[in-house]
Amino acid sequence: MIFIKKPIPKIHSGLWIIALLFCVPLNSKAVSGSGYFPYGVASGDPSKTEVVLWTRLTSPDRQDAEVQWEMSQDKSFAQIEQQGNAMAKSANDFCVKAFPGQLDPGTFYYYRFSYKNSYSTTGRTKTLPTSTERIKIGVVNCAKYTGGYYHAYEALSQMEGIDVVIHLGDYIYESAAAKEGDSYWPSVQATGRQHIPAHECLSLEDYRTRYAQYRSDTSLQKLHANFPMITIWDDHEIAMKPLKEMKDGKLEYDGNWEKRKNNSIIAYHEWLPLRPEPFENIYRSFQFGDLVNLMMLDTRVCCKSEVTKTLQSLEDTSRHIIGNEQLRWIENEVMRHDAEWNVFGNQLLYADKDMGWNRWSGFPADRDRLSDFIEGQPDKNFLFTTGNAHNPHHYVVFKKDKKDTLFHEVLPGSISSGNNAEKAFFDESILAKEEKRLKDAGNVLWFDQNSHGFIVLNATPEELKVDWYFVTDIRKKEFEVFIPYSIALKPH
Ligand SMILES: [Fe+2]
Repeated sequence: MIFIKKPIPKIHSGLWIIALLFCVPLNSKAVSGSGYFPYGVASGDPSKTEVVLWTRLTSPDRQDAEVQWEMSQDKSFAQIEQQGNAMAKSANDFCVKAFPGQLDPGTFYYYRFSYKNSYSTTGRTKTLPTSTERIKIGVVNCAKYTGGYYHAYEALSQMEGIDVVIHLGDYIYESAAAKEGDSYWPSVQATGRQHIPAHECLSLEDYRTRYAQYRSDTSLQKLHANFPMITIWDDHEIAMKPLKEMKDGKLEYDGNWEKRKNNSIIAYHEWLPLRPEPFENIYRSFQFGDLVNLMMLDTRVCCKSEVTKTLQSLEDTSRHIIGNEQLRWIENEVMRHDAEWNVFGNQLLYADKDMGWNRWSGFPADRDRLSDFIEGQPDKNFLFTTGNAHNPHHYVVFKKDKKDTLFHEVLPGSISSGNNAEKAFFDESILAKEEKRLKDAGNVLWFDQNSHGFIVLNATPEELKVDWYFVTDIRKKEFEVFIPYSIALKPH
């Protein structure tokens, strides 16, 4: 990887940019999978003393087999800290998870798997600290394979000092192959990145095949190999707009929606480095000393009521986006951890003033209760990181007085899923209308409609810095990365 520092024109006022030209080794094998482990390695869900290690055995005999794993604090594995065996089973699509424990807090570990004396690539992971003065978190979302190259994954994978990456969802898309006339068709034509299977994912085998395709991408493999990842799902890991909306013309597997949902969740657990339990209620929290309390929310699958799209339903306090149990859990997590920064990983926009029937604004009882709770904690500091939008935004959520800021909500650009400018049915007039809507909203401080990228959170006791990173053209192999916008939040 060669980085060439090169200034490029600023695209938003007041911010200057350093661009790094990535001479992209898209087929680099430096940390890519090979041999029996072509999908590489991954780690995730770190605690102070534990982490989940992942790989997939790909062997021609397709028999259940035992693989070995080992961990070390040095890259040469001169001193093995821990080792063990784990099964690659046909029943789990030969995906392997290992669960080392009794690790040291806040410590880098290298790990690798082996089978028949052949090693996987080496991964690096990090446990959560007991106490720390700085935490750096990469935030990614929405990576439709057909949208273009994963330059944003590639750029993040090369960054120094990242402690963990959080994925806000749409890690895969269940949709069928793009067709001529679709928004994604120009990208497929330019890159050759077409979905397999060609049909919409329904069966367990479909979802497994789709994950295998996504995980064949070397940029994503590098990201997983370099940092632990904490994932939460949005809708496309299961199906676009799950739950009752599905009934409107959406496909079911063997006439059974629950069966399809189950298939998708099984594959999610097989292919991603999270713990096997709980299976469906995967909202969970992570503590980085007393600096950051990270709460990954589920606004999609576990706890959501039907999206009804009637004004009358907005009055119904029994309708939920995250549910009473998850709300109580948030309140407990915030109260029992005295963290400087309380950060949420969230899928659907919280701050919007317009009606989004499927978003938080469509479930005002839950939103009001959470906002009231947050407003009742004046000594604590909150930040929402939100996915799903495919376009980067910086919102503020106001207190009940509608003047003072309650908290900020930050949305990264998508890794590769279509932004507004890439939508086939969007023209200049629609983009201009959207720009006006956002500017008039009164709580949107910055946005962009024609970009892809990620966010990095840099938390210290003194400030929480949020840097938006953009990558240039995801339909070309070479790219640049730059920071168009940053904010620095101060604690109360
Ligand atoms: Fe998405």
